[in-house]
Amino acid sequence: MFPYPRPDRFALYVHIPFCVRKCPYCAFVSQELRDPAYADEVVTTILKEASCYAEREPWKSSSAHSLFLGGGTPSLLGPATVKRLIAGLRERFNFTEDAECSIEVNPGTLHDDLLDAWSEAGFNRVSLGVQSLGENTLKTLGRIHSADQARKSWQKLRESGSFQLNVDLMYSVQTNHAMEEWRKTLDEVASWSPDHLSAYALIVEKGTPFAEMEASGKQVRLDEDEELQQMHSLSGSMRQVGLEHYEVSNWATSGCRCVHNTSYWDGGSYLSLGPAAHSYDASERRRFWNLEDTRDWMDAVSINGNGVGGEEILTLRQHLEERIMLTLRMVHGGPENELEQLATLAGLLWHNESLEVLLSTSLVERKQGMLRCTERGFYLVDEIQAQLAAGLG
Ligand SMILES: C[S@@+](CC[C@H](N)C(=O)[O-])C[C@H]1O[C@@H](n2cnc3c(N)ncnc32)[C@H](O)[C@@H]1O
Ligand code: SF4
Repeated sequence: MFPYPRPDRFALYVHIPFCVRKCPYCAFVSQELRDPAYADEVVTTILKEASCYAEREPWKSSSAHSLFLGGGTPSLLGPATVKRLIAGLRERFNFTEDAECSIEVNPGTLHDDLLDAWSEAGFNRVSLGVQSLGENTLKTLGRIHSADQARKSWQKLRESGSFQLNVDLMYSVQTNHAMEEWRKTLDEVASWSPDHLSAYALIVEKGTPFAEMEASGKQVRLDEDEELQQMHSLSGSMRQVGLEHYEVSNWATSGCRCVHNTSYWDGGSYLSLGPAAHSYDASERRRFWNLEDTRDWMDAVSINGNGVGGEEILTLRQHLEERIMLTLRMVHGGPENELEQLATLAGLLWHNESLEVLLSTSLVERKQGMLRCTERGFYLVDEIQAQLAAGLG
């Protein structure tokens, strides 16, 4: 078995499927929240689902080293509801003393009374969905907030002193003055000195209004060269303010890497509650996922105790391919001997021509037993993973 981080630890994710308004690029499962009573009902159902897993292994005998309240827009939950949810999770699961507890916040939803509620509930990390500080980009992205609202939200969170702070940004968005707005966004965000930064190139997701726009001939993403330029300025700006690049889309100051996401990348177990949530039990290589529709998920929880819609046990090959993909997304890569052992177990050939070509063309490299992408290879990580997977035979 491929070693995974401590088997007595897991990451706990809770999906809140509501937003003020749906952004036209977003494929995350969420709907507009019209009635706060519905959000309360969903939280009650999440706690019911939590009760079901709290009695089952491996969750029963292990401890959550992270909690991530994501969505959707969890900052839409009122103070009493969010406190009830977190207290309920703490009653049901064991948490490590220093568990990282994050909440995703849309700057258009931040109210003063929420900050105290989050810190009383035990959150110690906030991820703020700034996306851009350029008005054209924000408008193109259909965001509910202005750049000024994002600035004010940032200030309030910093002044509270209660949380480690992450900023989410998006780039490669086709809009007027895209390059200039990106540079200004980077300069200003760098001047905030965030503890952590996640920056994602826009993905045109199937079924979204952006996909329809693209299908009708409108360009929604920048071209490859412009995207690459934006990636380079991103890396440069973050380096200048001392944020270390540690995963394709993530930068952090020392000691502030995201524990929750790192445990996904390291192949650890995670339990996810709520509609459309995906879980993984590393001890059995078992993946399972919940029904996407919130009403269907609620009905399933009331009948079965959980809202599972499907599951699969990963084959050794699938597991190895996933380990390759996640390992190469980390800047430091991962131990090559573990990938090789897993390939041998799966009856596959690790030392193959594809690997040799990638090494000889300096897209991947070996360093002290670790296999990782070179700086040039890092921009081509998807192609590299595909070649390595194909080379296994
Ligand atoms: C699930 S969203 C939650 C954050 C919060 N709802 C907000 O938007 O402020 C997490 C992050 O995913 C990123 N994201 C969502 N859709 C994306 C897409 N199509 N392409 C690239 N990044 C995306 C955004 O940066 C967003 O902040
Ligand atoms: S990006 Fe965030 S706010 Fe926008 S629809 Fe997706 S989850 Fe909701």
